[in-house]
Amino acid sequence: MDKLIINGPCKLSGEVKVSSSKNASLPILAATILYPGNIKFKNLPKLSDINFFLQILESLGANTSKDNEFTEIAAGSITETKADYELVRKMRASVLVLGPLLSRFGKAQVSLPGGCAIGTRPVDIHLIGMEELGAKIEIDKGYINATCDELIGASIHLSFPSVGATENIMMAAAFAKGETIIENAACEPEIDDLANFMNACGFEVSGAGTSTIKIQGKKLSEFKSENTINYEVIGDRIEAATYIIAGLMTDSNITVSNFNPQHLKDVLKVLKSMGAKFEIDKRSVEVYPSGKLQGAKVETQPYPGFPTDVQAQLMALMGVSNGYSIISEKIFENRFMHVPELVRMGMDIELDGHYAFIHGVDQISAAPVMCTDLRASAALVLSALVISGETIVNRIYHLDRGYENLELKLKALGANIERVKE
Ligand code: EPZ
Repeated sequence: MDKLIINGPCKLSGEVKVSSSKNASLPILAATILYPGNIKFKNLPKLSDINFFLQILESLGANTSKDNEFTEIAAGSITETKADYELVRKMRASVLVLGPLLSRFGKAQVSLPGGCAIGTRPVDIHLIGMEELGAKIEIDKGYINATCDELIGASIHLSFPSVGATENIMMAAAFAKGETIIENAACEPEIDDLANFMNACGFEVSGAGTSTIKIQGKKLSEFKSENTINYEVIGDRIEAATYIIAGLMTDSNITVSNFNPQHLKDVLKVLKSMGAKFEIDKRSVEVYPSGKLQGAKVETQPYPGFPTDVQAQLMALMGVSNGYSIISEKIFENRFMHVPELVRMGMDIELDGHYAFIHGVDQISAAPVMCTDLRASAALVLSALVISGETIVNRIYHLDRGYENLELKLKALGANIERVKE
């Protein structure tokens, strides 16, 4: 298993361009199942999760090809409606093929995703939504079996604004008869991008980005398979937040570009309240040396609240800031796996249920640490950048799921970082 060796403290400078968003690309790849023609993506992020999803599409019968810049998907040749356990167990987001398969083929068999490091992560809201569209759902031998003669548009109120459930139901409603209204929908920018992609394919989705989304059902016969759709996914706001925090933790002047800073409004508000200095432009944020920041109190919430996917990185920053900070993790029940590792590096953090109490320290020290999940891993790398000496970060396959060329991008900013292949 590869590991990273980081020699700090690092001073960063220059510009880092973030890749396209992982969490927008995955549902959009699922939505290709709906379109009977070719889709050409520019700059899909080079991540293990994306490769997994392409494998799933191929296992369903799609043809895919890619070069360094473009990825082409021919979904017209899809005939298979079973997404098997061996693929789904590797990546929870695979459950997003359920809605589009059911909508296009009237049936889908998808392995029930298990829990993961950050929580049990049930899919009950997804399944209730499918049932409200008229699907018959059975769970058998670890598989979700969804069937329907015809999906009928309905008004669906989500018990929680789940990102995945909103996306799955949007896609299931694509070929449902009549209009579907999703109330209490998730409002994340990734949902907006999925709606933009579906509309680019010829579907009719409105209200994405708000808590009420409407989908006008279409007929497959309305789509011309000879039309190729060209699409480029939005920049990754979570990757951007990670580099912005890297700049602040190392007291550096860097520019983070190729994303929409509006997608990070709440994150930037919190950083500003801690004393961070930065300038926002249309497609970038320039971070200025801001010295030691002040503690803060933060609660993770669905968008536009503070994203849970930036919680670990923010905790690392708070760990070397002045005074006390409190983080309340309200989205996932087990998303503090990074805490024992940050404490091993010398941070002063105590946990109590979904609260973390952080008392900023002047210095942290080098220690071999272990990645446990994607964002926890990012927090360990950020911390290693400010440590005097050599830090070894193990099990970085977690990082490769969501950060394209992290060590190369950090190296280009001046960090002393090496990947050691094992
Ligand atoms: C998406 O996961 C993201 N993943 C996650 O990013 C992100 O943390 C999460 O949204 C919240 O923002 C992708 O987009 C691929 P949810 P998702 O459904 O869709 C509960 C990362 O680091 N829930 O909004 O799975 C669930 O257990 C990843 O890039 C139900 O109870 O998130 C959780 O506690 C990690 N029943 C909460 O809702 C359901 O049917 C939020 O889950 C669905 C969800």
